[in-house]
Amino acid sequence: MLNLSGKNALVTGIANSRSIAWGITQQLHAAGANLGVTYLPDDKGKFEKKVLELVEPLEPSLFLPCNVENEEQIQATFDAIQQKWGKLDILIHCLAFANKEDLSGDFSQTSRLGFNKALEVSTYSLIQLSGAAKPLMTEGGSILTLSYLGAVRAIPNYNVMGVAKAGLEASVRYLAAELGPQNIRVNGISAGPIRTLASSAVGGILDMIHHVEQVAPLKRTVTQLEVGSAAAFLCSDLSSGITGQILYVDAGYEIMGM
Ligand SMILES: NC(=O)c1ccc[n+]([C@@H]2O[C@H](COP(=O)([O-])OP(=O)(O)OC[C@H]3O[C@@H](n4cnc5c(N)ncnc54)[C@H](O)[C@@H]3O)[C@@H](O)[C@H]2O)c1
Repeated sequence: MLNLSGKNALVTGIANSRSIAWGITQQLHAAGANLGVTYLPDDKGKFEKKVLELVEPLEPSLFLPCNVENEEQIQATFDAIQQKWGKLDILIHCLAFANKEDLSGDFSQTSRLGFNKALEVSTYSLIQLSGAAKPLMTEGGSILTLSYLGAVRAIPNYNVMGVAKAGLEASVRYLAAELGPQNIRVNGISAGPIRTLASSAVGGILDMIHHVEQVAPLKRTVTQLEVGSAAAFLCSDLSSGITGQILYVDAGYEIMGM
C-alpha cells in the first residue's frame, strides 16, 4: 500500500552512509519516489564526491549543492525543481548544526554567535525551505523534519540544540496550520540517538545510546532505516490525516519515567 511512485521528493542532509537522511532516502526510493538530493558544498568538493558515490545507484534526477545559510543556493535548488520536475511532493529537512563547544558544559555559557548559528541552520532553515517549497507543492505535499527528545526535556550536553529543536517543533505546528488548506502536511520525527557525524559532536553521545539500550521498552536504540520507514509513511497517503505532529521513533524511550 505504501506507494510513492510519481512523487518527487527532495532530500536534504545526507553527509555519509550513517546519515539519517540516507536511511530516509533508501526507503523513499524503495517506495518508488523520484529523488532529488542536496549536499552541503565545501571548498574541496569532499562532501559532493562522497554523497554522489552513495546516492548514484538510486539514480536521483537532481543532485544539487545547498548550504541553507546561502540564499542563492536555496533559490537555485527550487528553480531547478521548477524547471526539471514542475512540482514538488515531498521535502525532507534532515539537517542541523551547532558549534561543538555549545554541545557540552554549561548551557548558560552559550555564546550569542553560537546560539544564532544553531538556530539559523537547524530551525530557520525549515521555515525557509518550506516557504520555497509551498508554491511548488501544487498538488499538496508532505514536509518532514527531524527532531530529538532534547526539544522537550533537558538532556545533558544537548544544550543549545534543545532550544533549536523546541523551535523546530513549534515551527512544524505553525507551518502545518498555514499550509494545511493547500493539503500540504508538515510533521516531525523525534528519533532516538543514533551514531552519526552530527551526533558525534554532542558530548557523551555513546552514554546516551547505552542508556537508551537499557531503559527503552525495546531495549535498544533505532536504526536509520527504521526512521526512514516512518518517514516514508509520513510522506505517503497512508498518513493523509496526520499533520503538525511529532512522531517518536525511539524504541519507546520517551514513555519511560525511570
Ligand atoms: N543522530 C541522532 O542521534 C539524531 C537524533 C534525533 C534527531 N537527529 C537529527 O537528524 C538530522 C540529521 O542528522 P544526522 O544525525 O543524520 O547527522 P548527519 O551529520 O549525517 O547529518 C547532518 C546534516 O546536516 C547537514 N548540514 C549541516 N549544516 C548545513 C548547512 N548549513 N546547510 C545544509 N546542510 C547542512 C550536514 O551536511 C549533514 O548532511 C538532524 O536534524 C539531527 O539533529 C539526529
